[in-house]
Amino acid sequence: MRCIMETKIKKDMFRNWFDRYVAGFTAGKDTALDVVTNIRLKKDHSDRVVQEILWMADQLGLDNESRDLAAVMALFHDIGRFAQYARYRTFVDHRSENHAELGVKILQQHQVLDCLPADQADLICRVISYHNRAALPDDDTEECLFYARLLRDADKLDIWRVLIDHYQHRNQEDNPAVELGLADTSDISDQVYDRVVNKDIVNARHVKNLNDFKLLQIGWVFDINFTPALQQVKDRGYIDAICRTLPPSDRRTRIKQVVADWLDKKLRS
Ligand SMILES: [Fe+2]
Repeated sequence: MRCIMETKIKKDMFRNWFDRYVAGFTAGKDTALDVVTNIRLKKDHSDRVVQEILWMADQLGLDNESRDLAAVMALFHDIGRFAQYARYRTFVDHRSENHAELGVKILQQHQVLDCLPADQADLICRVISYHNRAALPDDDTEECLFYARLLRDADKLDIWRVLIDHYQHRNQEDNPAVELGLADTSDISDQVYDRVVNKDIVNARHVKNLNDFKLLQIGWVFDINFTPALQQVKDRGYIDAICRTLPPSDRRTRIKQVVADWLDKKLRS
């Protein structure tokens, strides 16, 4: 692939466009508070996913060009979230539209990637469009799938942080958009529990309440692609932190144990 991201000018151009585009959603004096909060949430998330992906790129020894390309993917991966929230006041894709596809449309409409060779712009769009899929397609190039795996890991590393922070402070600052409006009941659905103890990712269709949603997030660990990301999950104590926000039960104890054992085994291998 040709070297195109070598200049600081291009990186600054993307960053400037991103900042201006995002600022546009909260520019009005009378912008509703939930819009300001959620635009800010996704902006900060995007910024941190850039940091996560750069850290992962360094851990994996990527060259500068690949590193820069990964950073652009991370910066723009949730660009559809801003219009999604402003238009629909939700982050639930099936109640609004697919935010990854919407993001690609926005990048195209604003001709953001037109300064890049077509193959590179196309690669960025494909990776973004795959970032929220239940599973990656098996018919794309190894290069594309590599970046998609990298982005999905970097994204999860920060979403865990956002969610844990939210669960720990939800009594003080409620934000229903983060919990997708799910009921905070005391149970865990059987299908969801079974998936996690069988070390499998949870199907979003089976999520019935907030505890199920937390188990779905615990189950993301089984979908992590790269060892440095997995090590971060352990070092940052993400799984324990989510478990602590579940009501005490035998199921909670078992989930914590199963995931901790799986993580240790995986990191040893
Ligand atoms: Fe994201």
